[in-house]
Amino acid sequence: MNQPPNNPEKPQNEQKKEIKNVHGSFLHNIDRSAILTIIGVILLFSSSIIVTLIAPRYIDTTWTSPSSPFQVQMYEIEDPNLYISSVATGGKNLQYVHHLKQDFSLLAFKEDENLRIIAPKELEHYITRFGENELKLTSRLLVLREPSIALKKDVENLRSELEKKWDKRQEDADKKGPEKITYEILELYDPNQRELFSFDPSGGIIPNWVDKNYKILDTPYKQPYHHDNGVIYILNPTEFKISPFKFGDQERWRYDKDGRPVKDVEELKSPALGFYSRKELIEMGEKIYAIEGCWYCHTDQTRTLIQDTVLNGSDSYPAPPSSANEYIYQKITFPGTRRIGPDISRVGVKKPSRDWHESHFWSPTSASKGSIMPAFQHFFDHDPRGTSKNQIGVPNYQFEAIYQYMMTKGTRITPPTQAWWLGQDPVNTMEIITGNKKK
Ligand code: HEC
Repeated sequence: MNQPPNNPEKPQNEQKKEIKNVHGSFLHNIDRSAILTIIGVILLFSSSIIVTLIAPRYIDTTWTSPSSPFQVQMYEIEDPNLYISSVATGGKNLQYVHHLKQDFSLLAFKEDENLRIIAPKELEHYITRFGENELKLTSRLLVLREPSIALKKDVENLRSELEKKWDKRQEDADKKGPEKITYEILELYDPNQRELFSFDPSGGIIPNWVDKNYKILDTPYKQPYHHDNGVIYILNPTEFKISPFKFGDQERWRYDKDGRPVKDVEELKSPALGFYSRKELIEMGEKIYAIEGCWYCHTDQTRTLIQDTVLNGSDSYPAPPSSANEYIYQKITFPGTRRIGPDISRVGVKKPSRDWHESHFWSPTSASKGSIMPAFQHFFDHDPRGTSKNQIGVPNYQFEAIYQYMMTKGTRITPPTQAWWLGQDPVNTMEIITGNKKK
């Protein structure tokens, strides 16, 4: 039905007014609700910003910022540049390599009782001599090597001089020490490279760290972390060199100090050499922890209760309660709710032994009597199941990943020189658990 366009009973202009009125109040209504909605959204949005981003800063800054420069340097400098691989002949031995970068890594060349360092004149000031207290550090890329032929005379002279001195001291002290001392003499040289790899025999579990009494010789400092109060450094790096050998029909590479240097990170990570950085392993470990459901039985938090701090530490050195900033480098966190197994937040300190974890993951009951933890034998290769029940397979990268992840737990809160397990208490554990923490 078509309405006639105009109501003939009302004059034209009145009609127009009515329509305008209806139209006007309708718009007015929309405006109000729209404005209310917009105000609501703004309020919600800004209060969520305040609650999640701004408020925490005023409540406790230690929630969102790292606990120490040590923590930052471990995760951002040490882990990404420490590479791990099994030795090329197979078996469970590992090799550890530092990726050294010009103007980035801090290096120390330090003599000790049995080690002396010789160097060309212009490099001599980089050496921390035996007996010197202040550690000299540099981000210039220098390395140690067996002295070159040209230096043979100098080395012989130095060695006989040192031995004479030693004999003299022995006579003065009525020969109390060992009969003979052998000196290792190395040469410091400039390889003229931007990056290099150095062999780390210690496995990098406890990093080299100086709180004080060090001096970085570069002016100006090359990296922001060189300004930190305390630094991680690499002690006496020697170049990681490799040489090829045949293993069955396969061509493989092994560490050989007379071999050739590794070209770059790509080569280091190639299947032939098979290195992973510790950072990558820790990230994999975090995923494995999620996938395997470890969080179902384990918590990852030391609560502010006496029993937790004592269980994860001891009577004399209670472990510090977990703090939010410990998890800032994790993508997924697993505080957990239920303890079918022990809490793992300080396991890197409680159980640092790789061997223990190997036998524990292989067969929890053999490491820990009556354990109900399932065996994780897929963390191992060459599964010998069926041949001999006690023989442990060769740990694969999954084992290494979960192990490296576990080892971050409790070891990075404070530098090793101030660690709570040495009886130091920089985080005021007692004050936290008794509720008397002062800011
Ligand atoms: C079914 C529950 C369960 C699951 C799942 C489980 N665990 Fe356990 N875990 C335990 C129990 C129970 C213990 C204590 C007995 C022992 O040492 O085996 C334990 C002990 C441990 C310990 C020794 C801790 C200490 O301080 O002594 C570590 C480390 C550990 N588990 C890691 C893991 C990891 C990593 C995973 C996942 C890959 C995992 N667990 C999965 C139950 C479990």
